[in-house]
Amino acid sequence: SSSGNGFPNFRRKPVIIIVVGMAGSGKTTLMHRLVAHTHIKNIRGYVMNLDPAVMTLPYASNIDIRDTVKYKEVMKQFNLGPNGGILTSMNLFATKFNEVISVIERRADQLDYVLVDTPGQIEIFTWSASGAIITEAFASTFPTVVAYVVDTPRSEDPTTFMSNMLYACSILYKTRLPLILTFNKVDVAAHQFALEWMEDFEAFQAAASSDQSYTSTLTQSLSLVLDEFYNNLKSVGVSAVSGAGMEAFFKVVEASADEYMDTY
Ligand code: GTP
Repeated sequence: SSSGNGFPNFRRKPVIIIVVGMAGSGKTTLMHRLVAHTHIKNIRGYVMNLDPAVMTLPYASNIDIRDTVKYKEVMKQFNLGPNGGILTSMNLFATKFNEVISVIERRADQLDYVLVDTPGQIEIFTWSASGAIITEAFASTFPTVVAYVVDTPRSEDPTTFMSNMLYACSILYKTRLPLILTFNKVDVAAHQFALEWMEDFEAFQAAASSDQSYTSTLTQSLSLVLDEFYNNLKSVGVSAVSGAGMEAFFKVVEASADEYMDTY
């Protein structure tokens, strides 16, 4: 397929899926489920872990930042706390990221997707220079999409929903990559309410107005801002626990990759 990105060797595959989410959204469980799905369906996946501080992963990864950077050593060597340690480890890894890209490029013909897990503290990836460098390195070489994992049951509260969406919005504008709102835990709460709120901001305002802690003018202005944001994204409901929505997830990834090829 032709694309306007200006990179002569740009390929349609593999598609890079960067998985980000607030702590507790179920990111790790979802990664596990996605990896299992690729195995069951004979999807050719590659798995990358970018969290230097994770103790154990429930799934096997092909590339793991922990093989290159020893987080505890970095903390000691630079006299850092946990977050500084994660950030510095990512910085060290980012300087070698061209090697990671080369590894994927060499295998490109045999891969459909690269699933990328990010540090549990979301802002360490989304608001750091190394996070930006890594994202940019992916996106200038392969079609790249961001899966933003949402804790659906918790987002039934309008205030939580709005702050979650504002955060997603900031990631969209920072990365400028196709963003997939991935409503997780639909086994506990269906994401229908979220679709309705995104479709009709008056429905959201009605729900939010019952919350006394929220000023109605702020709610109204923000929901108008978000209305424009929602037009620019795709969403899907999944359950990392039950496995619901896996086919739908990869369909949305494909549509987002097409969008990427058309846009960049
Ligand atoms: P990290 O920050 O990467 O460690 O992961 P996380 O905190 O985003 O989520 P984790 O995978 O640890 O899941 C948090 C909690 O949500 C755990 O108790 C999971 O069992 C639970 N959970 C995750 N996905 C689902 C789901 O689809 N349905 C239900 N019911 N629970 C889930």
